[in-house]
Amino acid sequence: MEVITVLHMNKGAGETSYAKNSTLQSKIISIAKPFVEEAILGNLCSDIPESLGIADLGCSSGPNALLVISKAIDIVHAKCVHMSRPAPEIRVYLNDLPSNDFNNIFMSLPDFHNKLKVEKGAGFGPCFVSGVPGSFYGRLFPSKSLHFVHSSSSLHWLSQVPSGLDSEAGITLNKGKLYISKTSPECVARAYADQFKRDFTLFLQSRSAEMVTGGRMVLSLMGRISGDPSAESAFLWELLSLALIAMASEGLVEETKVDSFNAPYYAPSTEELKWEITREGSFVLDYLETFEAGWDYFGCGEEYVQFSGQRVAKMVRAVVESMLESHFGGGILVVMDELFRRYADMVDDYLTKNRAKNILVVVSLTRKEAPRSP
Ligand SMILES: C[S@@+](CC[C@H](N)C(=O)[O-])C[C@H]1O[C@@H](n2cnc3c(N)ncnc32)[C@H](O)[C@@H]1O
Repeated sequence: MEVITVLHMNKGAGETSYAKNSTLQSKIISIAKPFVEEAILGNLCSDIPESLGIADLGCSSGPNALLVISKAIDIVHAKCVHMSRPAPEIRVYLNDLPSNDFNNIFMSLPDFHNKLKVEKGAGFGPCFVSGVPGSFYGRLFPSKSLHFVHSSSSLHWLSQVPSGLDSEAGITLNKGKLYISKTSPECVARAYADQFKRDFTLFLQSRSAEMVTGGRMVLSLMGRISGDPSAESAFLWELLSLALIAMASEGLVEETKVDSFNAPYYAPSTEELKWEITREGSFVLDYLETFEAGWDYFGCGEEYVQFSGQRVAKMVRAVVESMLESHFGGGILVVMDELFRRYADMVDDYLTKNRAKNILVVVSLTRKEAPRSP
């Protein structure tokens, strides 16, 4: 599977769209809000540049796409009012993979600009919004052009399915599983961890070149407290593989296709994240915090949301349907409703017996001063 060309959240605004099924991701954005606020204010405390570059990486489409950007602009505006100084021009870059529904975002821009004008007044500096299609595992922006970078619910997607999941004889090593499972051989977990390290290092190196010294970056992604990669959020993949295997046994999907599907996803441990940030060396780690996100509740206090099996299934479908279709072929579309009906029942059953945990990791970083060349 070519992740860069295949992966996209379900488009449009219909029943199965990401726009309609991204409540969990919007809760994640709200949990990371204080970190965003601290990072932007930290960035602006010494100086406010004439032209401020802000990027949201893996912005997707729907109501979440401009949420953090709007918040960032509010913070900059309030700070400028407080300092009685004119607001900078703001360059907003919305990045995602090329098959993302950028049109959906672009259609919402007139409202976005009107709202800015009404709320901030005509004196507020210009705000230039651009879509930047491409993989964040590589360069996307000119050198030293960004002051603040944000990414939410995106960095747990790998650039590719790890290599090394087949034996030399071409036998699938992770048979019947879509991700690292309790029964997966050790080499499967290693292949996933190695792919994550390569990807995350490339991500940090690319942002390091694109960000100004002192620039700030806030990343929220699914991760782990446990050292065991088959723990915590892995149960979502485990249940999806069980639903697919049950359908394969009834001839509704091809068993060999279930065996050969491996998700390009990895939830890193907090230790892995810290280690890779230190090893890459361009950023100071200001904060790394974890939040427990169950499926039957989410996070902190008032952020309580009831997630039934059906809601979880709709959210997972909006995210993984493009990959299932690419891997299994168009034939799976006929049984897609059935797959996610069964999946919803399995999630409900699981949630009645287990306290499902997802671990959200929020990382806040500052671009270090580049070492002077001798
Ligand atoms: C679950 S969505 C999160 C969207 C949005 N940030 C939110 O919080 O609702 C993950 C997004 O990351 C994007 N993505 C995954 N890998 C990417 C990559 N290598 N480069 C750019 N975007 C990527 C996906 O296409 C998808 O739109």
